[in-house]
Amino acid sequence: MISKETIEQVLMRNDIETLIGSYVSLKRAGSNLKGLCPFHSEKTPSFTVYPADNSFYCFGCGAGGDAITFIRKRENLDYPDAVEFLAQRAGITIVRDERDQLARAPKFDRARMFKMNVDAAKYFNRCLFSDNPDAKAALSYFIEKRGLSVATIKHFGLGFAPNSFDSFSKYMLSKGYSFEELEAGFLCGKSDKGRYYDAFRNRIMFPIIDVSGNVIAFGGRVMDDSKPKYKNSSDTPVFKKSRNLFALNFARHHCSESIILCEGYMDVIALHSAGFENAVATLGTAITSEQARIMSRYTKKVIICYDSDEAGQKAAMRAVKMLTDVGLDVTILKVPGAKDPDEYIKANGADKFRHLLTQSKSRFEYNLENILSKYDINISQDKIKALHESEKLISETYSSAERDIYIQTISKLFAINAGSIKSDVDRLISRASYAKRKEESNKIKQDAVGYSDKVNPDFIKAPAVAKNEENLLGLLLLYPEHRKRVFDEGLVSADDFFTDLNRRIFEYLKNAYFNEGDSHYDVDECFSPDERGRMSRMKLSRMELSENGDAVLRDSIEKLKKSVSKKNNEKNNSIENLSKLIEQKRKS
Ligand code: CTP
Ligand code: MN
Repeated sequence: MISKETIEQVLMRNDIETLIGSYVSLKRAGSNLKGLCPFHSEKTPSFTVYPADNSFYCFGCGAGGDAITFIRKRENLDYPDAVEFLAQRAGITIVRDERDQLARAPKFDRARMFKMNVDAAKYFNRCLFSDNPDAKAALSYFIEKRGLSVATIKHFGLGFAPNSFDSFSKYMLSKGYSFEELEAGFLCGKSDKGRYYDAFRNRIMFPIIDVSGNVIAFGGRVMDDSKPKYKNSSDTPVFKKSRNLFALNFARHHCSESIILCEGYMDVIALHSAGFENAVATLGTAITSEQARIMSRYTKKVIICYDSDEAGQKAAMRAVKMLTDVGLDVTILKVPGAKDPDEYIKANGADKFRHLLTQSKSRFEYNLENILSKYDINISQDKIKALHESEKLISETYSSAERDIYIQTISKLFAINAGSIKSDVDRLISRASYAKRKEESNKIKQDAVGYSDKVNPDFIKAPAVAKNEENLLGLLLLYPEHRKRVFDEGLVSADDFFTDLNRRIFEYLKNAYFNEGDSHYDVDECFSPDERGRMSRMKLSRMELSENGDAVLRDSIEKLKKSVSKKNNEKNNSIENLSKLIEQKRKS
């Protein structure tokens, strides 16, 4: 758990107006601010920021909550990461221990885990240089087969895990680590019968090192074609795949101009040893928005250099989007005549690769080239197809200035009037945005009538009952005096609620009231951003009404009790019916 003090500090130091203002352009409207919602596309602003209670709500799509909710949704982060994001933004340091506990591994000490990983890395590295014939084979795989020098092997701390189920763990136990610790660090597995075994066997080992120089995980590759090719540490208390990049510990000192993003460990190692020390790779997964954001902290430009097969090129297109979204300059480099940058460098040398780097292409150039390679624009049918695909490509470009430049390019290339291309492109853009709006408004409409209420799926089963629950919760969320009455006098119980979400909200409020001095600091931990949005709606719909006093509260509680007794009657009835039925059967 993050402490209450930290959350309060994080929320206090992140003024919601400035925070949201850095994502959305806001205009003052009375004591509030309005802007276009960043969570759905709209033309008239229905997104409102309420500085008075540090919250926001969108009347179009129902998104709402506080600064933490906003960041969770906008940056696509889970709760602890969103808190950390905001803490960092406000210059608050979250105590590391606290983050550990967030990772739900309070038993394991971070520093000790790092030490354990270092000891493991040293062991694997020693094994690589040992006299054992298996180890000799591994070393020769690195040196002869993959062309690495001993210096490079040492630089990256590469190693070899022997072909044994217990050599490694025996050694680690002798160093004082327990099987539980080894398992938590993904260095040992545990069989169904409860026996521990070494997780990495007969594999060459790549230690994963974070930017502070801690060994946080391992990747292990087979030396032949057997499967699986790689075995990687799963997320551990000190390691999250989605938040780290291979070799960023080195690349961070060489990337003021650009980062080269590759797919494989071997690509990165080959690039570094050829002098391109700004290369990094993801850790066996597609690039995440967190990794994109991390890169944006270190550099302005990323050159994507993925495998040249179809899968690699597809992944490259996804990466372009992720990286562009965080404001990075992005280009794509496809190595010609080789399966990946590692193979290219080995075949052509560093100078050729350096030259190639200067020819990396923007997303537009890259796709345009692909289109042109598919069609012969001297044939008019082909030319039309190529033109349409190019126009579609341009229509997907966000900046209108950039679109203008591309339109000029295409106009020259196809010898077609720029004006007609522009009107085609504009039509495509409005068509796409219409389709998107339509889809969203359908969704919102359906939500409103309760057809597909994903946030509160029970709503549709009894809309009137659920609506009343929301009314009551709105009153409780809004007014401390109502909370005091309802909870102190025990006027309502969780069992009175029909819908699951509303029951949870009630239980939460009650719990907060009795345990936390009535402040709701961990609300973001207990509810999803969508659920937070629903809670905001409950509050706001009450705020619009002038009558929110005791009479309204009593009325709502009465309705709630009635619906419960009705439900119970139905249940009793059905039990009665059932017993009657059984009796009849028995008689006949
Ligand atoms: N990867 C993985 N598991 C696999 C295959 C790949 O985790 N079964 C990850 C690894 O991080 C690997 C990257 O995806 O580095 C790229 O995969 P691939 O191109 O197959 O591996 P390389 O490391 O490039 O290995 P090599 O050049 O030796 O084939
Ligand atoms: Mn590869």
